[in-house]
Amino acid sequence: MSATAPPAPPSESRRAAAQRSADLELAIAREPAAFRVLTGDRPTGPLHLGHYFGTLQNRVRLQDAGVELFVLVADYQVITDRTAAAGLPADVLGLVADYLAVGIDPRRAVIFAHSQVAALHQLLLPFLSLVSVAEVGRNPTVKDEMAAAGRSGVTALMFSYPVHQAADILSVHAGVVPVGQDQLPHLELARTIARRFNDRYSPGQPYFREPSALLGAAPLLLGTDGTKMSKSRGNAVPIRATADETARLIAGARTDAERVITYEPRRRPEVSSLLLLAALCRDEPPEQVAAEIGAAGAAALKRAATDAVNQRFAPFRRRRADLARDPGYLRAVLAAGNERVSAITEGTLAAVRALMHTSY
Ligand code: TRP
Repeated sequence: MSATAPPAPPSESRRAAAQRSADLELAIAREPAAFRVLTGDRPTGPLHLGHYFGTLQNRVRLQDAGVELFVLVADYQVITDRTAAAGLPADVLGLVADYLAVGIDPRRAVIFAHSQVAALHQLLLPFLSLVSVAEVGRNPTVKDEMAAAGRSGVTALMFSYPVHQAADILSVHAGVVPVGQDQLPHLELARTIARRFNDRYSPGQPYFREPSALLGAAPLLLGTDGTKMSKSRGNAVPIRATADETARLIAGARTDAERVITYEPRRRPEVSSLLLLAALCRDEPPEQVAAEIGAAGAAALKRAATDAVNQRFAPFRRRRADLARDPGYLRAVLAAGNERVSAITEGTLAAVRALMHTSY
């Protein structure tokens, strides 16, 4: 969807998901310790400002509210469409450093990596038996990938990745998964798999709980080229960028030819996105930032956005630079998370074996 298109009217199911999500927020606020939350990222490069305002900030909020937060470094998702893996060690440790720098606290949260948790993946086999090829093929992300790469260009791992993601969630019995609208179909599939597993192998006493989506109000930040900020498009401002790099990247951002700066996301997406970025960093409404800049034009807007980013992210960047000097510590954090999740998923697998009559 282009950033300038008017939003589609919410469908009934979207509205229902939004309602469930709002109820869930209230339940979390009442009893945070009763909730286990799982989120994750592919280790494909440094996290950027879009990640921070879109999801990282929300993770830290949930952690600080007292939920049990699990963060997955989804390295096995990287090989769905990439063959070069030599950069993985640096990308994985970089991701851990980004998490810790923005406030994910390894004493309270669990950070782990796919490839180090064997039992998780063994769940993929029974789960694959619970869904049809047609069902997986209807998943919008899988459909998009197949349209982009062609049926023969998509790996079977890419095809099955929503099922793999269900294994991520169900293996640790996560009840809550913070997602954007685009990930809702994945979560729906995880719910279906949980239900079918229970119906087939554990009727009367459901073993897996159906995870719920927690919909975030992720602001849409555009990259420097005017399209959605994205690691793969090379248009992002990394969280770890220096103040000078930030200034250079934002100075190169697209704007428009109108002198007076106004916040009009539909008509002026690039200018509005820079205003939004400054506003998010300053915890102010974007209209207020616009009014302040007024007729000073795009150069002043870029200076304001740069200053706001540099100020807001300075403490994260300092912490990240310290962490980057201590890869042994980053590895230890990851190893502790892997161990914790291995213990949980071994338990899940043992229960699944017993329910499936495959314990001998
Ligand atoms: N697919 C997610 C992404 O690309 C990462 C991910 C993997 C994930 N497994 C997950 C997110 C389970 C939530 C739950 O960002």
